Amino acid sequence: MTEQKAGSILITGASSGIGEALALHYAKPGVFLALSGRDQERLDAIAQSCRGRGADVDAQIIDVVDEQAMRQWIEQVDDAHPLDLLIANAGIGLATSKDRSLHETTKKTFAINVTGVFNSIHPVLERMKKRQSGQIAIMASVAGFRGMPGAASYSASKVAVKAYGEALRGAYWGRVKVNVICPGFVESRMTAQNRFPMPFLMTADKAARIIAKGLRKNKGVIAFPFPTAFAMRFLTLLPQALSDAILRRSPQK
Ligand SMILES: NC(=O)c1ccc[n+]([C@@H]2O[C@H](COP(=O)([O-])OP(=O)(O)OC[C@H]3O[C@@H](n4cnc5c(N)ncnc54)[C@H](OP(=O)(O)O)[C@@H]3O)[C@@H](O)[C@H]2O)c1
Repeated sequence: MTEQKAGSILITGASSGIGEALALHYAKPGVFLALSGRDQERLDAIAQSCRGRGADVDAQIIDVVDEQAMRQWIEQVDDAHPLDLLIANAGIGLATSKDRSLHETTKKTFAINVTGVFNSIHPVLERMKKRQSGQIAIMASVAGFRGMPGAASYSASKVAVKAYGEALRGAYWGRVKVNVICPGFVESRMTAQNRFPMPFLMTADKAARIIAKGLRKNKGVIAFPFPTAFAMRFLTLLPQALSDAILRRSPQK
């Protein structure tokens, strides 16, 4: 199968987990990678590995919440290397605790998982539309199929970006490709904190291969693994009282 032709790719949250695996997946000669994260040491090490695979790399420490810095960096990258693919991947999965109320958890989660996605994609969306080429992928989750009592802030943030991506896909149809990525459990720093069973947990490398294949095929929603995605879709079809009763038993993040 032919690989994605993308020559210029920007990935947020490339310093760990799925973003790291995607960066390494796409790293090869002829590819320009713009990578961001917050941890300098981890991001530098990944940038080095990508260079080792032959890619040109620009690695930047930028918080996705910083709208101005994001716009400046992304426009600069796009001026020099018009982006073929932008993956808005950076995200967090915070738990509430005795030190962090539901209000604080939700505000922080939405700032990164929702506003951070806007800050990542808006600087380039109209540019891509003008040149009638380019692809934007938004990282949601299977938890974004429905509000989940065990992860209210997280699932609501992913419902929001999933819906936004689906809407943009239609709105920009024929000019910019827009895709939503909905993984189940993937090994990463985020899931390493979970103290509950994670069915069908897969490696980040495998997830990156599935995502890249879905993007190559321009799938609207790239949801995997099949059993988790199927179960989540099925839950949304059940009568509310039944899905409520099932989900009330789901583990707390
Ligand atoms: N793992 C799963 O099971 C799973 C399932 C569904 C969806 N997802 C989604 O996949 C994405 C990646 O998560 P992951 O599982 O790979 O977790 P991870 O290993 O914790 O990676 C998260 C990445 O996002 C970056 N990030 C977080 N907050 C940021 C901010 N404010 N500004 C810039 N970068 C920020 C992190 O950077 P630093 O480490 O440098 O701070 C890191 O590179 C997230 O959107 C997550 O919701 C994950």
